[in-house]
Amino acid sequence: MSIFITLYLLPPLHLFLYATATEDYLLPYSPTDLILLNCGASSNLSSPDGRSWDGDSQSKFAASNPPEASSVFEASTQDPSVDQVPYMTARIFHSNFTYTFPVLSGPKFVRLYFYPSSYSNLDISKSYFSLSANTYQLLKNFSASLTVSAIRPPVDYFTKEFIITVWDNQKLELTFIPSPASFAFVNGIEIVSIPDSFYARGDDNPLTYVGNDHFFYLGNTTALETVYRLNVGGQDISSKGDTGMYRTWHQDSEYLTGQSTGNTPYLPGVKIKYTTKTPAYSAPGTVYSTMRSMGPEPRLNMNYNLTWIFPVDAGFNYLLRLHFCETRKEFKSVNQQVFLIFINNQTAEYDADVIQMSGGNGIPVYKDYIVRVPPGSQSKQDLWLELHPNMERKPTYADAILNGLEIFKLNTTDGNLAGFNPEPRVAPPPAEQLPSLQDRRTGKRSSILTVIAIIGGSIGAVFAYG
Ligand SMILES: *[C@@H]1O[C@H](CO)[C@@H](O)[C@H](O)[C@H]1NC(C)=O
Ligand SMILES: *[C@@H]1O[C@H](CO)[C@@H](O)[C@H](O)[C@H]1NC(C)=O
Ligand SMILES: *[C@@H]1O[C@H](CO)[C@@H](O)[C@H](O)[C@H]1NC(C)=O
Ligand SMILES: *[C@@H]1O[C@H](CO)[C@@H](O)[C@H](O)[C@H]1NC(C)=O
Ligand SMILES: *[C@@H]1O[C@H](CO)[C@@H](O)[C@H](O)[C@H]1NC(C)=O
Ligand SMILES: *[C@@H]1O[C@H](CO)[C@@H](O)[C@H](O)[C@H]1NC(C)=O
Ligand SMILES: *[C@@H]1O[C@H](CO)[C@@H](O)[C@H](O)[C@H]1NC(C)=O
Repeated sequence: MSIFITLYLLPPLHLFLYATATEDYLLPYSPTDLILLNCGASSNLSSPDGRSWDGDSQSKFAASNPPEASSVFEASTQDPSVDQVPYMTARIFHSNFTYTFPVLSGPKFVRLYFYPSSYSNLDISKSYFSLSANTYQLLKNFSASLTVSAIRPPVDYFTKEFIITVWDNQKLELTFIPSPASFAFVNGIEIVSIPDSFYARGDDNPLTYVGNDHFFYLGNTTALETVYRLNVGGQDISSKGDTGMYRTWHQDSEYLTGQSTGNTPYLPGVKIKYTTKTPAYSAPGTVYSTMRSMGPEPRLNMNYNLTWIFPVDAGFNYLLRLHFCETRKEFKSVNQQVFLIFINNQTAEYDADVIQMSGGNGIPVYKDYIVRVPPGSQSKQDLWLELHPNMERKPTYADAILNGLEIFKLNTTDGNLAGFNPEPRVAPPPAEQLPSLQDRRTGKRSSILTVIAIIGGSIGAVFAYG
């Protein structure tokens, strides 16, 4: 009798499970693999964001290597602007060295932390190395010191972020391969799992291949490198502010060009309504609650394109993920705002209508596009993204918006993701000769080599003069 009463008072079990399952999309992602390795360190330490990093001195991940293959060093200069963890210690590789991570199968972020400082008597500018991850080549004859010296505004350290899918019964193997008569190094390695089918979505999700008449199938045999991740119209977001994958998001202002950079409407108290199609882990609410629009003046908007320019490595395909969320209260129905999306001067979307794509005000949505950046005369080329109103169906407003943007490089058919080192810097010209925004607009850029890199989680555009 008492058993019967207890069961009767409990809510039906199937309802309870159902409610839990359907609300998962409101929660941040909880990684199934999370490894933080502080290379060269002998004890476990916390980074300023409060995360705990394992020292790698007796690391089970490095057990397969002979002791003479590597040594550990502390940075000789300890600049207070550089985080102690993971940057103040390094593992230096004298010969091939493999870290083996026994992770679950599925896609992973692999983040590498580099502080090209001096380590004892080692000349870091002489360090050139390659890096492979399972069957992919991530870096080739890579110089961290040339990379960091090309970053503007100047920084001392940077990170590189890749996405690798680990197959069933496979481990994740990272192999550092010093160039002939050189050495390799790394300060930190971070591995974070990613939800399945989140970035690479496979055969049942054909993507628009801009400028091609066929679709592009981005399956999980392709590895990616993050080249830009922007909170468009908003502020920088640190790894702690992300929804579970420790991604960093940056302001978009330095990539804007053209006669107007639009405006960033102030939208206090906006509530983002995540859906099963666009769950909370897609991007933080701070990405979707800020935006850049063309502006309130229709005549002005009809006369310009809202334009961003991104220097990228030539000879690769790129995935662009555009994040949208219409949060201005007067925009609530279909055909109020319709716009064109151009990628590299080609039409990627003819009639983007955010409310139609998302299903309503406050509901986020993202759209993916693939574009090829062919090899050219220079190893870096500009990738253009432009928005313009489409008034064909007589929408209420002549406007266009963007809330967030991610750009990833895709490996070539032979599994390579590595680009070239930036040119060594020579003395910059006097300040009055610096190219102005006007020069950029009018295309007087031939003498300027533009270089990009991901820095300390932040992405910088750089002008080196050669
Ligand atoms: C560091 O932390 C790892 C778990 O994250 C643990 O296995 C290891 O024993 C710790 N090492 C030290 C020296 O405390
Ligand atoms: C290091 O790895 C590279 C690439 O796999 C290989 O070509 C080279 O022979 C290796 N060097 C040694 C000493 O094993
Ligand atoms: C890779 O994608 C295929 C479908 O295209 C899927 O069956 C497989 O489980 C995926 N593998 C991993 C490790 O995610
Ligand atoms: C490595 O890169 C440097 C600078 O970019 C270059 O001078 C050198 O020739 C390259 N070495 C190889 C083996 O490609
Ligand atoms: C796009 O067009 C502009 C001129 O409108 C040109 O300067 C630029 O090089 C073009 N970009 C690409 C990638 O073709
Ligand atoms: C916007 O960009 C497209 C594609 O590059 C170009 O055809 C069009 O002329 C541009 N419109 C304006 C107003 O600049
Ligand atoms: C990436 O490399 C793998 C081989 O390692 C290949 O199967 C895949 O097709 C490549 N991806 C692209 C987009 O070429």
